[in-house]
Amino acid sequence: MRAGSAADLAATIRPVAQLRGEFRVPGDKSISHRALILAALAPGESTIRGAGDGADVRSTAGIVAALGAAVERIGEDGRTVDYRVVSPGADGLREPDETLDCGNSGTSLRLVAGVLAGLPMTVVLDGDGSLRRRPVARIIEPLRSMGAVIQARDDDSHPPLTVVGATPLRPIDYRTPVPSAQVKSAILLAGLRAEGRTTVREAVATRDHTERMLRARAIPVERVDGPDGAVAWTVEGGRTVRAMNERVPGDASAAAFWLVAGSVHRDAELTIRDVGVNPTRRAVIDILRSMGASIEEAPSSATDAGIGEPIADLTVRSSELRAADLGPADVAAAIDEIPVLCLAATQARGTTVIRGAAELRHKESDRIAGIAAGLEALGARIEVDGDDLRIHGVTPLRGAPTDSHDDHRLAMTFAVAGLIADGETSVGRPGSAGISYPGFFGELERIGA
Ligand code: S3P
Repeated sequence: MRAGSAADLAATIRPVAQLRGEFRVPGDKSISHRALILAALAPGESTIRGAGDGADVRSTAGIVAALGAAVERIGEDGRTVDYRVVSPGADGLREPDETLDCGNSGTSLRLVAGVLAGLPMTVVLDGDGSLRRRPVARIIEPLRSMGAVIQARDDDSHPPLTVVGATPLRPIDYRTPVPSAQVKSAILLAGLRAEGRTTVREAVATRDHTERMLRARAIPVERVDGPDGAVAWTVEGGRTVRAMNERVPGDASAAAFWLVAGSVHRDAELTIRDVGVNPTRRAVIDILRSMGASIEEAPSSATDAGIGEPIADLTVRSSELRAADLGPADVAAAIDEIPVLCLAATQARGTTVIRGAAELRHKESDRIAGIAAGLEALGARIEVDGDDLRIHGVTPLRGAPTDSHDDHRLAMTFAVAGLIADGETSVGRPGSAGISYPGFFGELERIGA
């Protein structure tokens, strides 16, 4: 189903009496983007097995090819794809003829901007209507201070973004104003092209895939832990990124939909194989467990072939959930899983409070507004107070029309709600699920929903 096609108008989900099965989720989206970008910077041949085959990762693959690396799909199964990338390396990349199309993908835009900041070329980055509403000042400010010339629409607020790279860049010591792995990664990637050591400081640790993957490629990256969860990362500029072969673990953010489905359904046992459980990505598992979810974690037989990402098989069973109290650090740690955790909260005894969720308003859609509207349509009781949410449970859900606002994580959250709602739930614009989870609605069909 293509987003925007006639078949994309709505999907109908019916509740299932029993939820059983085994799932494999697409390769981690964050790791897949980074693997492609680092393969472009590394002279020689890299292979990336099990990358997520959603539209966002495809956008990055297209960008890497437009910059002059040979990108070949050497295997695929509808959910994941294997890539072979042969690159001349950072110094051999060429200025693309056209605007680089990031589609719906904020990660492509922000990470690639970091790379372009240090390359001797002028490039325009653009994307779809949703991407054109996403904030870019957060990367423009630090990359400019490193010496790149960058401009964006609306007084440097929104894409399209023009990057005129500088070589070499100046190293900076920068504190990120919002917790964002994309901003941190853009600066670290630019830092590879800086003369000296570039440091990024974050008040709370965000996902550290870039750091792990750089280390796996022989780039020295140092971590210094500060008080109250603060972390500083330093990268050494002027080194060559080494080509490597790797395997991408399953996406914890995709697994989250099945973890919540299994927890809230009254007769469920689901196993999700080979899921990445990096400490900076596993918050959704730990939050669900703190709410009383029965989630077992067993070592997976899969390997990441040396990028340093822990992997596990997860089994979830029907659970009696209790409300959670989540603050800004939890929001940062589970940023992509908050929508589906809101669904879990509707089935948890008591009032779940989520404080300081402002960043959710700057995702593929305004996720605070979208999640509240969709879950309320299904009968949930939610109060939105500024950037805080209060969700009252346990509230039985009844099937109703919902709208994904073309946001993949909302589409999948409402579809999971449909597994437990009484009657039929329709999800408007479900095709957006293909941004991160191609085959998601096929899986729902397979389990009878
Ligand atoms: C991502 C970081 C997060 C997350 C996004 C992927 C990444 O965005 O929401 O889905 O791969 O670095 P922010 O850094 O903007 O919070």
